[in-house]
Amino acid sequence: MEKIDYEKEFLSIYNKFNQKYSKWEVWKDFLYLSAASMANTVKTAEWQQREERYLQTIGKYEKEYQEMMPNLFAVTAAALDDNPEQDFLGKLYHRIGLEQEQKGQFFTPYHICEFMSEINYAGDEMLDAKTGKKYITVSDPACGAGAMLIAFANTARKHKINYQDKVLFVAQDIDETAMLMCYVQLSLLGCNAAVIRGDSLAKPGFHPDNDVWFTPMLYLKWEKFRGFFEGTEEATQQISMNPLDMKQFVEEASGQMTLAI
Ligand SMILES: C[S@@+](CC[C@H](N)C(=O)[O-])C[C@H]1O[C@@H](n2cnc3c(N)ncnc32)[C@H](O)[C@@H]1O
Repeated sequence: MEKIDYEKEFLSIYNKFNQKYSKWEVWKDFLYLSAASMANTVKTAEWQQREERYLQTIGKYEKEYQEMMPNLFAVTAAALDDNPEQDFLGKLYHRIGLEQEQKGQFFTPYHICEFMSEINYAGDEMLDAKTGKKYITVSDPACGAGAMLIAFANTARKHKINYQDKVLFVAQDIDETAMLMCYVQLSLLGCNAAVIRGDSLAKPGFHPDNDVWFTPMLYLKWEKFRGFFEGTEEATQQISMNPLDMKQFVEEASGQMTLAI
């Protein structure tokens, strides 16, 4: 069967926007729309504000372009489904030349992330038997598009650890675009992840000023991981979320989600 070139597919849609809109604006908007459409499957404290920004963002585009935004998302999902061992959006970001918009922002090539992830993998004692830990936690406080964390998910899988069940990912970046790239990719890969926008040095982790995004898989597995978040501002907000919405989300998602493993 002929292999699909997903980068080419993505660019064939993305380049159509160039006739009317700036490439940087389209990239940022595509990310926000994709991220918000996944995050807002659950009615969290941030739901309303994300919904409003979603509508405002999509509203900037003419109808034919509005209809193309979900196609960019669909190609991204298909690309990661076809090959989860890649930083699809990070690669595209550089291929399009978007680093020029961001003072030379640079993401680590995926094969280096793979190597780093493998040498940092501490073996099966990361779980259960010796430590009593039920899951592994892994963090990248300057996550970019999430390449290091994607590589860790794949390293876990290669070591026969189901990362969708046994790994909690925490990612942070000061830059919203990077944070959203990471959120979209970790969500599509079915990672249990909290992806945070904020300064890791001045305001690390679940600081009240930070913008925290939970992936759909984390909501699904919330009971398992909630202990990790207890005492943080985010946990307070999530726990106060309408439990009916959560129940409904879990029921619907359980029937629909295809797991990558
Ligand atoms: C060289 S990139 C690496 C990204 C990713 N870890 C990778 O390996 O591809 C560095 C990232 O750190 C982020 N960053 C820089 N200063 C930061 C800070 N104080 N807090 C959080 N993120 C920061 C940048 O926005 C950028 O995305």
